[in-house]
Amino acid sequence: MSSNNDRKIILAALKNGYHLTEDALEILKRSEDPVRTLNMVIEHVKKADPSCIVLNAKLIEALVQQTTKPQESKPVHEHEEEPLICPEIQIIRYYPEDAIIEGHLEEFYRHFHSRYIKLRKILEERGIKFVPLSEIMRMRKDQDAIAAVMVLDKKDTEKALIFECEDPSANTTVFVPKKASDVFTKAEMVLVDCVVGMKLRKVDDTLLVQDIIQPDVPINQKHPSTGPDMYVCFISDIHIGSKNFRKDLFESFLDWINRSRDGEVKRTGYVVLCGDLVDGVGVYPGQEKELEVVSINEQFSMAAKFLSEIPERIELIYLPGNHEPVRKALPQPPVPEVYKKILESKRKITFISNPAKILIGNKLIYLYHGQSLDDLIQTLPNVSYSTLHESIGKILEVMLQVRHLAPCYGQNTPILPLDSDPLVIDDVPDILCTGHVHVAGVKSYKGVLLINSGCWQEQTSFQQSSGLKPTVGTAVLVNLADMSTKIKLFS
Ligand SMILES: [Fe+2]
Repeated sequence: MSSNNDRKIILAALKNGYHLTEDALEILKRSEDPVRTLNMVIEHVKKADPSCIVLNAKLIEALVQQTTKPQESKPVHEHEEEPLICPEIQIIRYYPEDAIIEGHLEEFYRHFHSRYIKLRKILEERGIKFVPLSEIMRMRKDQDAIAAVMVLDKKDTEKALIFECEDPSANTTVFVPKKASDVFTKAEMVLVDCVVGMKLRKVDDTLLVQDIIQPDVPINQKHPSTGPDMYVCFISDIHIGSKNFRKDLFESFLDWINRSRDGEVKRTGYVVLCGDLVDGVGVYPGQEKELEVVSINEQFSMAAKFLSEIPERIELIYLPGNHEPVRKALPQPPVPEVYKKILESKRKITFISNPAKILIGNKLIYLYHGQSLDDLIQTLPNVSYSTLHESIGKILEVMLQVRHLAPCYGQNTPILPLDSDPLVIDDVPDILCTGHVHVAGVKSYKGVLLINSGCWQEQTSFQQSSGLKPTVGTAVLVNLADMSTKIKLFS
C-alpha cells in the first residue's frame, strides 16, 4: 500500500480525534477496506470507552476479530449431562501474616512511589507519551502536553476545580474551569491519591486541564470458554453471631445447595465466601448489644456447623472481611490457625487473604471484601448508601477505571504501606467480586463482570441511620462457561 493510503487512514483517525499507533496502522492495512474497518472500530470505542484517545494494535486486533468473526453461541445445556470436572483453583496473589511495617515516612514514600510507577505503566500501555511536569511548567504560552500525575489534593471552588499534582520531577497546581463542561465531568471523578494522565495547556502563567485520562481497563479481549457449564456461587457477609443473622434464610441456601437434582447445583463447583463470615467481637463500640453469641470461638464453631452442610464435592474458598479477627489494615491475611482449625474440623476450606487473585480454569478472579467502598460512597458525586441498589455497579466500575481497590488513602480504610502497592489492579480480571455494603448487584464493564454479593444479616441500626436497605439472603451464581449470571434470592 502506498504512503498516500497510510496518510488517508491516519487522517481518518485524526479527524475523529484518535491517534493511531504504527502497529495499529499495520493491522488495519491488512483488512479489505481499512478506513471502513477503522470507522467501525471508532464507533465501538466511542461507546465502550469515551476517554480513549489512542488506538493501539491490541485494541484494533481484538475489535477486528470481534466484528469479523462472530462467536458461535453454545446451545443452552448442551453439556449439562457431562460430568462436572472442576479445575483446581490457583491462588495467584496471596498475602501472609508476616508483613512488618514500622511506620517510617520512607515506607509511605516507597508505597506511593510504587503506586505511581505501576499506574503510570498502565497509562503508558495505552500508547501515551508523557512529559515531566517540570518541563510542562516551563512550556511557552498556548503549548500543551500530557503529564502522568498523582493527585495530592482536590479543591472545589465557585469557578473551578483545583488540583495539587505531582510527578517525580515536580509538583504544581492545575485548574479545571467549571465552564469546561466535558473536562469538568471527568475531573469530578478524579480521586485524591490516584494517578491520571492530564493534558495541560499553559494559559498566561496558569496550567489549564484540557483532558483527563484514567488508567482504566481495555475491553476484555479473552474469548469465552467453550467448555461445559460450571458455576461459581458468590456469597458474603453472613455475620454469624449477630442477633440480625438470618439463620432461616441461610438454611434455605443450604437446602438449595444440597438439592442434587437441581441443574445449577449439580454444576456448581465452587462457593466463594467473600468476608464477614462471623460478626466478630469488639468490631465497633457497643457491638455486644447486637450480638447473639459473644464468644468468637463459639461464632466460628457455629459457622463450621453451617459450612459443613455445603457438599464436600464443592470447593469452599474463604477470605476475611472487617469483622474477622485478623489485622484490619489491607491486605489482610487469612484468619489465624486457631479459627482455621475450628472451621476445618468439619470440612475442607481453602483459606485466602483479602484481597486475593485466583484463577479458575482460564478465568482470573479478583476477590476483595470491599472495605474501601465506604470511602468511595462518601467521595464520589451522586452516590449515597440509600441509592446503593442503583449505584453499586457504577462504584465498582470506578475501581476498575482508577485501577485500584482502595484508592483514597487516610479515610475509613486502613492500608499497610508495603513497598510495592498490592492494591493496584495490575491485570484485567474476568470477575471482580466484593461484599461489605450488603447490597447485591451485578454489572458488566468492558467485559469484566462486577459483583457485589449481598448479605445474610437483617438491617442493622447503623444501616438504618444511613438509609441503607440491605439485600438479605442473596447469592450470585456465575456460569464460567458463558459468564452468564443470576442473583438468587432465598426466602
Ligand atoms: Fe458485612
